[in-house]
This record gives sequence, C-alpha cells and structure tokens, in this order.
Amino acid sequence: MSAQPGLVRFPNGFLWGTKTAAYQVEGSVDVDGRGPSIWDTFSHRAGATRNGDTGDVACDHYRRMDEDLDLLAALGAPAYCFSVAWPRVQPSGSGAINQQGLDFYRRLVDGLLRRSIVPVVTLYHWDLPQALEDAGGWVSRDTVALFSEYTRIVAGTLGDSVRMWITLNEPWCSAWLGYGTGEHAPGVRDHGKSAAATHHLLLAHGEAVNVLRATIPNASVGIGLNLQPVRPATDHDDDRAACHRVDGNLNRLFLDPIFTGRYPADMLEHYAGLQPGFDVVAEGDLEVIRTPIDFLGVNFYSPITVCAPARQAEARATGYWIPETERRGRIGDLDAVQVLRAEVSRTQMGWEIEPAALTEILVRVRDQYANLPLYITENGAAFDDYIGPDGEVHDANRIAYLDGHLRAVLDALDAGVDMRGYFVWSILDNFEWGHGYSKRFGLTWVDYPTGRRLPKSSFAWYRQTVRANGLER
Ligand code: FCB
Repeated sequence: MSAQPGLVRFPNGFLWGTKTAAYQVEGSVDVDGRGPSIWDTFSHRAGATRNGDTGDVACDHYRRMDEDLDLLAALGAPAYCFSVAWPRVQPSGSGAINQQGLDFYRRLVDGLLRRSIVPVVTLYHWDLPQALEDAGGWVSRDTVALFSEYTRIVAGTLGDSVRMWITLNEPWCSAWLGYGTGEHAPGVRDHGKSAAATHHLLLAHGEAVNVLRATIPNASVGIGLNLQPVRPATDHDDDRAACHRVDGNLNRLFLDPIFTGRYPADMLEHYAGLQPGFDVVAEGDLEVIRTPIDFLGVNFYSPITVCAPARQAEARATGYWIPETERRGRIGDLDAVQVLRAEVSRTQMGWEIEPAALTEILVRVRDQYANLPLYITENGAAFDDYIGPDGEVHDANRIAYLDGHLRAVLDALDAGVDMRGYFVWSILDNFEWGHGYSKRFGLTWVDYPTGRRLPKSSFAWYRQTVRANGLER
C-alpha cells in the first residue's frame, strides 16, 4: 500500500473481478444439447421460487455472450469468474459429452482472453444434472467419481487457457439448503441427507483438486466457501452454546476437514444418529479432502447473531429483533434462532451490513487454519434499485457497501492476511435462486423483458476503483 496522497492502494497484482453462475445468467436451458439440472426441475415446481420465477431465460447470457464480454471489457476489471454448467457438458451427468456445451465455454474463454480478461472457472455452482439427482445426487457416493470425470473433461478442454479453478461454490448451500431446509434444489428436507451430501461434496472437491493438478501443470486450485462470523445474542451460556453450534455447521464443518483433515467432534456428535449422516465417511476420505489447495475463495455477505430458542424473549428484551419471517428451518436443527440487531442496517436480503465482520473472518482463517492466499470470490448486495427519471440507476447504497467491504479487505491486509483479489457479485442482475428476479445484485441493471443492460452508478465506481487500484483515503 503506497503513500500516494488521497489514495489508499491495494498491493500490485491484486486481482479485481466480477462473478456469475451459469444457471443464474445463461438461460437457453434446452438448446444445443443441454440436459436438465436440479434447478430446472426445482424452479418449475409450484411454490418453489418467488413468483414462480425460473432460469429459463435469466439474463439470456447464452445468446448475448458477446455483448456481455464487451460489458466486462468496458468495466475494465482484469478477471471474470463464471461457472460451467455440468448438464451442458454431460447432459445426463455421466458418459456422453455434449461438444456444443463445451464449445460455448471455449468461446467464452477465448472471448475473455481476446479482451485480456483472466478467466476463472467454477466447476460446480449448484446445477447438478437431474439424472444424477434421480440416482441419489450428492447423498450418493457415486456422484463423487462422476464429478471427477466431469472435471477431467472440462480441464482437458479449457486447461490450456484457464489457470485459476474453483472446484465448488459454497458446498454448505448445496448440502444444507438443498437437502436440509429445502429452500434450494433439489428441495429435500432431511438433515441426515445434508450431512451425507456435505461429505460427498467435500470428497468431490478433494478428488477434483487432484484431477486438476494432474491435468493442468500450473493450475491454481481452490474452493469457494460462504463464511460468516457467528455471534451469541448475549453472554448467557445457552446463547454461546447455540453460537458454537451454528458456527460449527456454517464454518467449521467445511474449514476443519479441508485444512485439518478432521470433522469437528461436536458436529459429529450433534449429527450422530442421523441417517445416512456422517456414517458415509470412509477410511482415507479425509486425506483426500485435505489435499492442499493453492487459495481459499471466501464468499462474504454478512455476519449472523443467534440465541438459544428458549431465550428469544430475553433476546427481544435486550433489543434484538426476531422477524416473523425468520427462517427457523435454516438453523433449526441446531437449536438456534437468528436474531437481528435493530440498529444495524440491512440489505434487501435482510442481511446485516457489517464490513468489520469480513476482516474478522479473514483473520480467523489465517490464525486458526492456514496462512494461504485468500480471494474474496463473492461480495455484493441487493438493494431496492430503480431507474430514476434521468434514466440511470443511482445505487449509492451498493457503492457504500462495496467501499466498506474493500476497506475491510485493506484492514485484513494491514493485519498481514495474504489477500490476493476481490470479485464483486455480480456483473449483472440475475436469477437469485429462491428469490427469483426480485433481488438485484448487479453492477448492471438487466431489463428482463427486453434483456437490455444498463450499467448502474456502481459500475462506474468499480471501474474507477479498479483503475486506481485503490480507494479515496
Ligand atoms: C451466494 C451465491 C451466489 C449468489 C449470492 C447472492 O450465496 O453463491 O450464487 O446467489 O449468494
């Protein structure tokens, strides 16, 4: 960080980017040989998503790829992270390769390189081929070997041009929202399955790291985890215990096996008795899961505060707010209730805004797990954007959110954390899973009926930040 007056700088080579995921932007779900994914099935199920929204069209990125590449070039961020849709590459998840699907990603990578943008590939961002779900999905160990096969295919095709790889995006969401609360595809509600899915996802990650290393000599490989500091509502022992459980599920259940080769003992105990649960763990699996990675991708949005269920009245009296809509199911199996601090502002998702929590989790990873290169692979916010009378989207709140979190990254750098880059979620407004199109995270407004793209004020702000490699002091 140089002392240039007026500006606080990021290190040279700090990698700036934006990120998307296939199902959230591509659309064209039944063209060029793509097979159905669990998100196609789930989003078409009555009541599964807000307004019955689906990713059938999404941002129409599949057909507007060139326009979106130009948009990325106009933004000027040196990197772009996208995910490959497994069902485009292998329509039924195994066996036959769909060349047209691979060609799409080849064109995308070539288009990025032509514009001097570094491609970063996520292999799995939640769109499991439906045929594999029909055979058990992530609850089945068979999916692990099939993921390796799929990884080999993608790495074999793009490995000459792509160096940076993310195996899985937020396996917690796949396992605990997909198979636990049922808020995400495949919409199953069975925590015994969530536990088994957790293990198979982590095992698939470890195997994929090995496949990528074997296929691409200079690959840089990591995983993207959603990490959240968890705080107890009060100092009461029961709240602290609830906090420890939630932290175990959200953070330690993934960080521990990846960095120490062990599941947290309290979590194994908590989920003991669930079927199939962690009984699926076989000898040698954890050695695979702890295969060294080159970097950790941290997806960060918000911290969370919890209390013990029996202490909700106490929490309210202490000044916390427990909304009617609190999704009990999310952490319900952990005997914990999420509470909100009345005085802390929230995004349109209802997520509390606290940049210092980002610094906290980054320092914790370094101190408790490993001093390895870290990237913020997702950070961003949904707000109630609208096109103003002047025809522009003035999203000052998003700019403030991003600015605050970038300063939190600077604080982590000051604390000696090895921060290597930052990716905004997202370049475009897109299909926000169960929330459908009701939540806009983009630096660019998407007019869904026409597909028109309109860069918001935050787009110009981010371009300027990237160009300066720093922020106003
Ligand atoms: C993350 C997901 C990403 C996006 C953001 C808002 O959990 O990885 O696809 O939905 O949240």
